[in-house]
Amino acid sequence: MTVIRRRGWEIPERLATPEHLVFDRRALLAGGASLLAMTPYAAQAQRVGDLANLPDPSADLYPAKRNEKYTIERPITAEKINTNYNNFYEFNSSKNVAAQAQKLPIRPWTVKIDGMVEKPIEIGIDELIRKMTLEERTYRHRCVEAWSMAIAWSGFPFAKLVEFAKPLGSAKFVRMETFMDPKVAPGQRQTWYPWPYVEGLTMAEATNELAFLATGAYGKPISKQQGAPLRLAVPWKYGFKSIKSIVRFSFTDKQPKGMWEKLQASEYGFWANVNPAVPHPRWSQATEEVIGTGERVPTQIFNGYGEYVAGLYKGLEKERLWA
Ligand code: MTE
Repeated sequence: MTVIRRRGWEIPERLATPEHLVFDRRALLAGGASLLAMTPYAAQAQRVGDLANLPDPSADLYPAKRNEKYTIERPITAEKINTNYNNFYEFNSSKNVAAQAQKLPIRPWTVKIDGMVEKPIEIGIDELIRKMTLEERTYRHRCVEAWSMAIAWSGFPFAKLVEFAKPLGSAKFVRMETFMDPKVAPGQRQTWYPWPYVEGLTMAEATNELAFLATGAYGKPISKQQGAPLRLAVPWKYGFKSIKSIVRFSFTDKQPKGMWEKLQASEYGFWANVNPAVPHPRWSQATEEVIGTGERVPTQIFNGYGEYVAGLYKGLEKERLWA
């Protein structure tokens, strides 16, 4: 995705560590990094090489059961194509981020839930994933850059995370934040981006049945370049809303400002619902290139998901719903 800048794993199953041996989160929280060196997880990391290349302790959960309600007419984009054509600006601004993204350590990975909630929570990703029932859904994915793919995500409905978080009645939005670690993510050393990557949804959007938190894709844990270990999928919105590698969910009564909105509000707004009739200020959104097929097809309003989400925007017609 471009802005007018004023300048411009896998190892065999038999080697996978059982989840309860992976790491002791309390020990980690109490003792900090020095204790990390003593956990079985870290000991294995030393054997394998480094923390970035450990086996995924959730691998036994995949493939998840398919939810036939969420299927699409388009063939699924081949995994090899999908995982080699990504936007992940924390690593670089080309589509070729797969190799660099492998440097991201995804265990241990703590998810914070805070803001307007009954009680703030910090939870390890594996504890969180195992509280949820994973399912597989196929969704269209439409980038604001006028290209699209079709993906078989595995994960759980965002509504289940909201249920777990117990937000107060006064919360109107949920703000999400990506990891921040310029040592592993060279893009985060580019100070003209307002890091960390942030995105937000209204509570009604987050609890809409389509809003999905993906932990897997293509029948296995989600790849790092696709946003491991936890990534949003809101298929009726332009892809930049689907924030990757989430570390924090904050419930708030203030509309969150996403990273792209902070950078270029005239081009990337809060709502960003797909609409072929509303061009991006610099290009048409009428059609999209279906990556991997050489085809261009007409773009559909709400990316074809109007029956699920159009009702969310009744009474909001005065808002800039489409960009
Ligand atoms: N999330 C983070 N943290 N960093 C990013 O650069 N890019 C966004 C979105 N989420 C991005 C992100 C954009 S512009 C798109 S189109 C999708 O991720 C791309 O997802 P994909 O690489 O799985 O196709």
